Amino acid sequence: MTDPKTLAARFPGDFLFGVATASFQIEGASKADGRKPSIWDAFSNMPGRVFGRHNGDVACDHYNRLEDDLDLIASLGVQAYRFSIAWPRIIPDGTGPVNEAGLDFYDRLVDGLKARNIKAFATLYHWDLPLTLAGDGGWTARSTAFAFQRYARTVIARLGDRLDAVATFNEPWCSVWLSHLYGIHAPGEKNMEAALHAMHVTNLAHGLGVAAVREERANLPVGIVINPMHVYPGSDSAADKAAAERAFDFHNGVFFGPIFKGAYPDSVLEALGARMPEVEAGDMAVISQKLDWWGVNYYTPMRVSDDATEGAEFPATKPAPFVSAAKTDIGWEIFPQALGDLIRTVNDRYDLPDCYITENGACYNMGVENGEVNDQPRLDYIAAHLTVTADLIAEGYPMKGYFAWSLMDNFEWAEGYRMRFGIVHVDYETQVRTIKKSGLWYRDLASAFPKGN
Ligand code: NOJ
Repeated sequence: MTDPKTLAARFPGDFLFGVATASFQIEGASKADGRKPSIWDAFSNMPGRVFGRHNGDVACDHYNRLEDDLDLIASLGVQAYRFSIAWPRIIPDGTGPVNEAGLDFYDRLVDGLKARNIKAFATLYHWDLPLTLAGDGGWTARSTAFAFQRYARTVIARLGDRLDAVATFNEPWCSVWLSHLYGIHAPGEKNMEAALHAMHVTNLAHGLGVAAVREERANLPVGIVINPMHVYPGSDSAADKAAAERAFDFHNGVFFGPIFKGAYPDSVLEALGARMPEVEAGDMAVISQKLDWWGVNYYTPMRVSDDATEGAEFPATKPAPFVSAAKTDIGWEIFPQALGDLIRTVNDRYDLPDCYITENGACYNMGVENGEVNDQPRLDYIAAHLTVTADLIAEGYPMKGYFAWSLMDNFEWAEGYRMRFGIVHVDYETQVRTIKKSGLWYRDLASAFPKGN
């Protein structure tokens, strides 16, 4: 179903349609107004880490084009904008002096959203850890959780009166496993012990962050954005089904468990507990404070088979083949029903609050032709996932909003600028923005809903 009016009719009037970005991916101005380097500045300047050795020095130059970009967001008719705040702009060394000029930028951003009647959904940590903290162990060091708490408090003290929602972390799976175990994201480690430390420190930081937000602004809705894997077994065999359960615990349970149940999954404790950092008295109570909302980022399912290799590291799985032939340009399987299966599964297993789809979208790299970008496959992808979202609402799941990833093409981490997720095209030579066909369609959909509700 791709007619925007017909699709719009399936959502309640207070559903929020939004667009999402993250600081490092769009801002550029990496040395402006007191910002210091993050781990991604360092990582992207190392050979062999990021495609083409692309970096975030300029990105979409959003920092210098704030007002125009806010007008662009408003022109899309959306009710909400999800963005992240760059810790290295606010407390450039992670600890130590606060940089007022950095706070001023987000002040202008939030005021600009308010002036346009667009809700502000802020994420405190979308992967740009101040580099100085990495020298002290980064996310593997318990002290980083307390540094994060002070940063959270600093941001909320200044901006909290005008935010509509705040998330502590974006996709801890990426900043833990992808960054410390699989070596793909900064800091590029491949070390299970380090990753297990990052896992617990991140969970603790989340909890300390929630406490800080509540101390500053008791009524500001606080949550976390997770990218849970919907894990399908590669076959009906008992071994593959058990593998899928282990994968669920390892990829999802290590975050959902502590946050929503106050405990790590038994399977993880059994297999890896001896290599985990000490869970100190009181940690779980801090981590499992009740949240007002959670965000799901969904793109593609995970399919696994049992890895029977002798001594295979937990969760001892290997990738299983895709079921659908359709893939996006980044090679990810298109399988919209997994979004539905995922939301049903995690709601079955945990007592979850209201849910926003904080990211969903597709990588397609077509460019501008005659002033237009015909990205019909992205439009179809978004429409299919919104159809699943409408089904979930009809089944009674508390789905409250949907944010398209992304507002515009941007720095796609290890893939650099070659992978494009925007509903707006960015010409990186000229910084010209062109709304794609999917963006015009999304505007028609979002405009069917009132602003400021
Ligand atoms: C998840 C991340 O939050 C975002 O930064 C990234 O660009 C998209 N997925 C696409 O990979």
